[in-house]
Formats: sequence, structure tokens, C-alpha cells
Amino acid sequence: GIASEETATAAVVSDREFTLGFSQLGSESDWRLANTDSVKEAAAEAGIRLRFDNAEQSQTKQFEAIRRFIGEKVDVIAIAPVVQSGWEPILKEAKQAGIPVILSDRNVEVSDPSLYVTFIGSDFTEEGRKAGKYLLDKTRDFAGPVGIAELKGTEGSSPSIERGKGFREIMAKREDLVILESEYADFTQEQGKEAMRSFLNKRGRDIRVLFAHNDDMALGAIEAIEEYGLEPGKDIVIISVDGTRKAFEMMAEGKINCVVECNPLLGPNLMQAVKELMAGRTLPKRIITPESVFTEEMAEKEAAGRKY
Ligand code: AHR
Repeated sequence: GIASEETATAAVVSDREFTLGFSQLGSESDWRLANTDSVKEAAAEAGIRLRFDNAEQSQTKQFEAIRRFIGEKVDVIAIAPVVQSGWEPILKEAKQAGIPVILSDRNVEVSDPSLYVTFIGSDFTEEGRKAGKYLLDKTRDFAGPVGIAELKGTEGSSPSIERGKGFREIMAKREDLVILESEYADFTQEQGKEAMRSFLNKRGRDIRVLFAHNDDMALGAIEAIEEYGLEPGKDIVIISVDGTRKAFEMMAEGKINCVVECNPLLGPNLMQAVKELMAGRTLPKRIITPESVFTEEMAEKEAAGRKY
């Protein structure tokens, strides 16, 4: 009868293997490598077929990958967008093709929020605020003015924009905290080192604090500080974001003072979202990853258990 036919159809639908097209923005940092591994592992575990593309920091390459996914009629597209702006046209193409889009890790700026289903990732503004709170606490007894250097990530990317914003929001509570230097270093160790070297050549010991928007840039900066003959973590307070194993090791050595966690292990949440979407469920518009703050005092104990 009709009832059993319906049951049979339902079973077929839920057993079908779904295809997810994932447009990864690049491979600039240890965070990103852990994020890529997490997506690949979680897809395999969930039995979801994955089409993976690495755009190597190019938004144009992300557009090309997404167009390819649309052409292949994948079931869902997930995007980790390199920058915040410019996404409306391509998201409209996906919508017209009837393919739902999930944002992973970074946010986009669009006037029509129906262009994506959900955004899974960190609250970057809150991460910046956490860094700012540590700064206030750590420099409480420093005689002002306290000179700060900032290594920003990729220009136009949501983590860089929002971390900078959250940090400044808290910094404003104390007038003699001054940002002396601020440069984009693309979230890479190499550019972090280069930028820090030029900060030091210009400002020398006036730099008392470094806020690096990620661990890779902090690691590069540590090299530059040591080459310059200063002690990272002592002569210059170092605050970083992500929480990679390498950063924890540096923190255990006293070379980084504080790490604000940003969790790259988004794969399982993403696959769960894909499955729910395919089952016809409505997802919350925002899925925020829970995160902590770690300081020198806890570094050694935590370092061993780091998963990335
Ligand atoms: O979007 C998340 C950021 O991108 C991470 O903090 C950084 O390490 C990565 O490159």
C-alpha cells in the first residue's frame, strides 16, 4: 500500500551518500591545517562524500571552486571565506541552483542573510576582548605609556577585523595603552617575523606588548625579538590567538604569556549540520564554538593534551 511505499522512499533518501563541496581558503597556518584535517576526517567518519578545494588565499579561486561544485550538483556547499566582502553574486548563484551554503570558520558581509543557512565558528570579537582583558590585567602595574605592537591577520578577513575591534574596545578602558605599530602579516609565521623585525627597528624597547592575531605570527615575532636581543615574554609581553601545540610549548617556556583559544576542529559540527539539513531540519543561524583563555601558569599542564 501507499504507507509502505512511503517508508521505502524515506529509507532510500536517508541511506543516500551526500556530497559536500568544501572551499577552504588556504593553508597559511597550523590552525588552518588542523581545520582541513578535521573536515576531512569528520566527512569520512560521517560517510559524506567530500569535494575539497584549497584556494590558496585567493577569493577568485574560491569562486571558481564554488562554481565547480554547483556544476557537479553537490548537495551542500561549505565555505571558509578568505575575506568578508564580495560574496553576494556567487552566493546567489548557489541559491539559484538550489544548493544550501554553510559558512565555516569565517563570516561574510551580505545584505541578504538568506544567502546562507548557518555560520559555524568562533566569536572573533569576543576573542579580541579576551586578549584585551589579559592586557589590562597583565599591565596593571606598568607605568604608562604602554607601547603596543599589533600583528594583524589577512586584510579584510573577519577574524582580523573583529579581533582588532574587540581588543580596542577593552583597551579603551585605560588611556595610556597606545598602539604604536599595527601591520597585516597574513596569519603567517614568515610575515609575522618580518613585520616584527621592522617594528623593533623603528620602536625598539618602546614596544612593551605584542598582540598577534594568531600563533604563527607570534612564533615568527618571537624569532625577531630574540634576534634583536630581547626576551620574548619578559621584555615584551606576548598575547596570541589560536592555541596550537607549538604556542603552548612556547608558553610553557615563558615566551608567550597568554593564548586566547580559537578552535579549528569544526569538522564534526559541520557534518552534523549537513546531515540535519539533508534531513529537512532547520538549523540555528549561528553556531558558536566554545573557547577558553590560557595563560603561562597553566601552559605546561595543558600542552600535552592539545589536539592541534
Ligand atoms: O579564521 C581563523 C584564523 O585563520 C586563525 O586564527 C588563523 O590562525 C587562521 O589562519
